[in-house]
Amino acid sequence: MEDIILSYYSVNPGAWISIGIVFLSVFISWALNFSAPKVRVFGTLLASFGCFVIATWFFIFVMNSGLLENPKPNQTPLDSAKPTLLWIQSITAFLTGVFLLLIANYQRKSNEILDLSAKNEKYRYGRVSRLLHWTIAILFISLIPMGIFSSMIPEETSYRNAYYVVHKTIGVTVFLLVIVRLIWNKISKRPALDNTLTPTEKKLAHRAHNILYFMLLVIPITGFMMTSYHGYGTFFFFWELPPLWEQSNVYQIWGGFHKYLLPYIVYIILGAHVLGALKHQFIDKHDSAFKRMVS
Ligand code: HEM
Ligand code: HEM
Repeated sequence: MEDIILSYYSVNPGAWISIGIVFLSVFISWALNFSAPKVRVFGTLLASFGCFVIATWFFIFVMNSGLLENPKPNQTPLDSAKPTLLWIQSITAFLTGVFLLLIANYQRKSNEILDLSAKNEKYRYGRVSRLLHWTIAILFISLIPMGIFSSMIPEETSYRNAYYVVHKTIGVTVFLLVIVRLIWNKISKRPALDNTLTPTEKKLAHRAHNILYFMLLVIPITGFMMTSYHGYGTFFFFWELPPLWEQSNVYQIWGGFHKYLLPYIVYIILGAHVLGALKHQFIDKHDSAFKRMVS
């Protein structure tokens, strides 16, 4: 297809910012499961720093941009919830940053060397699965406020394009990493769920994991379809893939999934996933459970 030309841009701030975000996410995920305990503490501190960066971005940049009060005109009544969503997400990022500082302080006392193989073991995840889980998790979580804010920026704003380049690049990266993760799950069998879970908890955890895998595939696909049918290109670092089809109003249907239905399902399932993991660790006091994915 002649239309599918990958064009190269030598100056593209969005591509450089994307490289920075992907590099930092991989680095944090690698450090979180490093064998030496001091490096793991450093990984937790970096993860906390990442949360503070998101909170600072909102409280300093977004709040002073004037776009919370004067965003791009709403397309549906649901759009009026965006400032509130950004507030909730930024306060959560700030509190998570504080929480991770406390965890780093606790981790300082450990001198346990983490002896872990690349492949999954019977009762815990190996290095590759952990690296993929945390890199995807960090990128996925950062895409949500980034996507919401991007969609509020009026057309004529100078930095609008950079936000779209970063959002689309990271979105495509998540999609590719999920494919690698699914292939890896075939090569190295996933460990069975933790034995300390009740049968109901097992069923819920299993369902939540499957729905999350589904979301990780379907959200970037709907984003790509919405973009392409709307007549825009998809960015991947320095490259741009032009729209694959004639512009058509079908983009509104894909947009309905990408912008409204799927994010709200994700809030519920991801909330249950994270709160379930925290309950297991701090309320049920099953210390081994969290350590299956991070030590
Ligand atoms: C940042 C907060 C997160 C925490 C604390 C967390 C924690 C965990 C833990 C402890 C497990 C292992 C469960 C087990 O014992 O079997 C796990 C698995 C999983 N998580 Fe997360 N997670 C987080 C974010 C995410 C995100 C953002 C996604 C995807 C959108 C995600 C998707 C998954 C999936 C699909 C599994 C199942 C892994 C497999 O068996 O292949 N998680 N998570
Ligand atoms: C896991 C990957 C992704 C996640 C979690 C994600 C999430 C989001 C979210 C939450 C929004 C805000 C929706 C709103 O409130 O209006 C958004 C907007 C957007 N997303 Fe994504 N997205 C992902 C991947 C992609 C990809 C791969 C593309 C395109 C190739 C894309 C294109 C867009 C566009 C163009 C918007 C803004 C739409 C507008 O201006 O109204 N997204 N995304």
